[in-house]
Amino acid sequence: MPPVDLKAFFGANIEEEKILDANDILRPYDALVPIKICGETIHLPNNNSVWRGLQFWGLMTGDVRIDFGRFCIAGTCLRCKMMIKKPGASDREPLLACQTTAEAGLEVVKLAEGFAYKGRVK
Ligand code: FES
Repeated sequence: MPPVDLKAFFGANIEEEKILDANDILRPYDALVPIKICGETIHLPNNNSVWRGLQFWGLMTGDVRIDFGRFCIAGTCLRCKMMIKKPGASDREPLLACQTTAEAGLEVVKLAEGFAYKGRVK
């Protein structure tokens, strides 16, 4: 997959180190897909979990904070369960953010404890 031009997306002032850090934590992706979180639209890399996507968005913007020590990022601790509404679904459901792939139109309705978006924890 060709890399996304993160400087074009986030602006030329974004630090090269942040881009390298972001690409270190991600699987290959070729698009940033719009999702909603707390009613606002953000963009996460496709082919990656919501968990890694939120980590990415936090790295790039500072809007997401994660208490990293709480999480396994491997589907076993179950602490990353979030209320998520998948695109086309009629209702939200509890899903593990580390096991749910980011896709356009997905909505994070309620964050897991240990995550904060712009200082909000719900
Ligand atoms: S971070 Fe442990 S199950 Fe998702």
